[in-house]
Amino acid sequence: MIQLGVNIDHIATIRQARRTFEPDPATAASLAVLGGADIITVHLREDRRHIQDRDVRLLRETIFTKLNLEMSTAPEIVDIAMKTKPEQVTLVPEKRQEITTEGGLDVVSQKKTIMDTVKRFKDAGILVSLFIDPEENQIAASKDVSAQYIELHTGNYANAKDMATRNKIIEKLQAGVKAAQELGLQVNAGHGLTYQNVGLLVESLDVEELHIGHSIVSRAVFVGIQQAVSEMKELIFKHSLKNS
Ligand code: PXP
Repeated sequence: MIQLGVNIDHIATIRQARRTFEPDPATAASLAVLGGADIITVHLREDRRHIQDRDVRLLRETIFTKLNLEMSTAPEIVDIAMKTKPEQVTLVPEKRQEITTEGGLDVVSQKKTIMDTVKRFKDAGILVSLFIDPEENQIAASKDVSAQYIELHTGNYANAKDMATRNKIIEKLQAGVKAAQELGLQVNAGHGLTYQNVGLLVESLDVEELHIGHSIVSRAVFVGIQQAVSEMKELIFKHSLKNS
């Protein structure tokens, strides 16, 4: 069964809109786990626009599913992650002006930095995933730097305007999954996934984990986060059956 990673950054976005104490990401994480989240993900950004250091500390103390810390390779953030000891880190590119993570990590051009960072985490028993586009050279470089996982960027799949484009992107993602698995990498996927587009992706790709944030938090505004997560889990389950 595909594992569901729920990204709760945007619970913190609502709180930071008023710099107050609510809604609390730690409460959201506990309810998401009750709804069936297998993994809780937060992105501690360098500009602290949503998740704060305190959230990461609290989540580490209160969440007993896999905690996945999304992060850049900035030394300050790497040090926090080393102290927090999440089960997994996902290295992502980070630009100050972007609304959300745009494009995958360029592992090819930053091999040395990424390799050193991967080694630090692996030596501490922390799994490392690299968020990349489904490009052959980025997949090979991810293997070269000894990451255990890659997360394939599904943003282009989510943004495709017609079925022909979407099908082409699916073929590219499928080729990426195959190439990575042949190299012994475990494959996750995420970004831009919604209740509307997740089904086809689940039916098309053989992945370990799906990482979903904005759509689940958006639905949670109306139905609560426990129910929003459980509805996404059910969808993934239903479509996994078609893929087996
Ligand atoms: N995976 C990664 C690596 C991400 O950076 C994000 C966005 O924070 C997600 C998954 C979730 O994307 P979305 O919020 O569009 O579901």
